[in-house]
Amino acid sequence: MRIDIITVLLELLQSPFEHSIMKRAQAKGLLEVYTHNLRKWAINKQGQIDDYQFGGGAGMVMMPEPLTNAIEELSSQRKYDEIIFLTPDGETLNQKIANGLSLKENLLLICGHYKGIDQRIREHFVTKEISIGDYVLSGGELAAAVLVDAVGRLLPGVLNDETSALFDSFQDNLLAPPVYTRPADFRGWKVPDVLLSGDPKKVDEWRHEQSLQRTIERRPGLLDD
Ligand code: ADE
Repeated sequence: MRIDIITVLLELLQSPFEHSIMKRAQAKGLLEVYTHNLRKWAINKQGQIDDYQFGGGAGMVMMPEPLTNAIEELSSQRKYDEIIFLTPDGETLNQKIANGLSLKENLLLICGHYKGIDQRIREHFVTKEISIGDYVLSGGELAAAVLVDAVGRLLPGVLNDETSALFDSFQDNLLAPPVYTRPADFRGWKVPDVLLSGDPKKVDEWRHEQSLQRTIERRPGLLDD
């Protein structure tokens, strides 16, 4: 999978993909992430990419021209399956959306700043609008990083059997069960006996029960789906 990201803050998008699983996904050639500085398509030598909003009001709006030129140039090089704008008024990201996006070949992400981007870009180019939660970030970069991570780890071959995404929270609308490691007794706080029993069937049953219990307690709405 290839993911292109249009941003005004390249620096914010460097580190998140240089470590751990995202690093491995790229090293294995399973994921390619390219960031593009929107100022490359600025309307003047001063690097302008935003302007005041019509109708008045505080906050700048990202102009249609630089974004159009960026999107059209990148789209001339490959066909994007989705052009995604990260925005707090988008559809809230969940595991199902991440699963769906992980099946695509090419994604183009647009990170907004200030008051947002000119509505015409959303209407004429954007195919999906995604929020990572009901709170407002300073820009779309951190949301884009979250999306790339959530999608990238699902690509076949990125995770090994032990860390397989199949056992993640949400994959079957259940939260993940609790986990323990050594020592089996720490300060008198004991690991549940069943996990030390060596009986895989019992362990599976216990984990499923715990998942169900956690989901009922913490996120009962997940069970409605
Ligand atoms: N940009 C600003 N806030 C955001 C959010 N919550 N999700 C996605 N993009 C955003």
